[in-house]
Amino acid sequence: MSILVTGGAGFIGSNFVLDWLSQTDELVVNLDKLTYAGNLQNLASLQGDSRHEFVKGDIADYDLVLSLLEKHQIRAVVNFAAESHVDRSIHGPEDFIQTNIVGSFRLLEAVRQYWNNLKQPAKQTFRLLHVSTDEVYGSLEKTDAPFAETHQYQPNSPYSASKAASDHLVRAYHHTYGLPVLTTNCSNNYGPYHFPEKLIPLCIQNALSGKPLPIYGDGQQIRDWLYVKDHCSAIRRVLESGTLGEVYNVGGWNEKANLDVVNTLCSILDELQPRADGKSYAAQITYVTDRPGHDRRYAIDASKLGRELGWKPAETFETGIRKTVQWYLDNQAWVVNVLSGDYQSWLDKNYAERSA
Ligand code: NAD
Ligand code: DAU
Repeated sequence: MSILVTGGAGFIGSNFVLDWLSQTDELVVNLDKLTYAGNLQNLASLQGDSRHEFVKGDIADYDLVLSLLEKHQIRAVVNFAAESHVDRSIHGPEDFIQTNIVGSFRLLEAVRQYWNNLKQPAKQTFRLLHVSTDEVYGSLEKTDAPFAETHQYQPNSPYSASKAASDHLVRAYHHTYGLPVLTTNCSNNYGPYHFPEKLIPLCIQNALSGKPLPIYGDGQQIRDWLYVKDHCSAIRRVLESGTLGEVYNVGGWNEKANLDVVNTLCSILDELQPRADGKSYAAQITYVTDRPGHDRRYAIDASKLGRELGWKPAETFETGIRKTVQWYLDNQAWVVNVLSGDYQSWLDKNYAERSA
């Protein structure tokens, strides 16, 4: 038996593959298009490991997906593949529509075809777990209760709208065709292999390079942070014991304002790798023009996952963020490698037009 992971060369997907193979010997077939966000270096420790088979390809390629499912007798699919960066979706939504909506649809079609032809008991035990985000629920006011699974969908960016569309398709394939699906909606992740276009790795890297730490708007937007390995353990738990057709919210009960997150990063760096001039890295904080349509607050109510499946995160924000900063200090070679020409042109596009 084996599992198919899509998007397994990205941030969360690669953490999931490494985590999975640290616990079991079951083969992981890893299908990833290797966009700018996919990086096989994340999986370097698996080189020569016969439990990991990497395939470069697109989830929108129906024939390829179906052939992988059949060839490897896949018992479960975990779908991480997506365009994931909100700012990129504002600059160019097309890829988000293509992968997150059309790609998810084609993946569902291939899985449906495969599953229809399965014999019992494989048909009964097969699962498709779709990895989604809290952003589909929209934005909360300061005093609103955290998002429960029953919260109305109110996506506000091309990214979150495309993820919402894929969630709806997954739901519809269960309702209409009986496809055995599970969906997880998780809050903001952080940790090793996080691509440095996102707030936490970007600020760690900019701090170390003496560059501005760009805070959009007033920096009082709130995100609910979860260490990536805790997200992986939640996905494993849901895959193992989740009820078919159900949605599980995943979060760390760690709401933080962006400015507080960046100040925390600065004080950890001040301690672990002080600036040569003795000043705090916080001196590099720079307020820049806000993200259009910027959601004010996300917060996840993860109590269903705790109550029904007994999951809880292992890390607090304090322990997880310290591990993360240390990982970036210890893995500068990885960072230097991802800072390619493509990455530089993205930085120019996103930040040049934001006046300080
Ligand atoms: P990422 O951008 O780091 O990685 C995405 C991966 O998918 C990359 O390896 C990329 O090459 C691959 N990919 C993109 N298009 C593809 C396609 N058409 N076919 C095959 N592979 C393709 O993203 P991430 O942060 O690891 O997020 C993974 C999933 O988790 C996404 O679905 C995202 O919406 C969801 N999610 C992310 C967060 C977060 O904080 N990062 C939180 C909740 C949910
Ligand atoms: O909530 C889950 C989502 O978290 C995932 O679905 C997305 O895939 C993931 O990218 C992340 O989205 P965010 O937009 O919340 O993450 P990002 O790191 O881009 O931004 C975090 C917050 O920091 C957000 O309020 C915008 C702000 N920000 C971001 C950048 C890149 C800044 O203030 N400055 C920056 O330079």
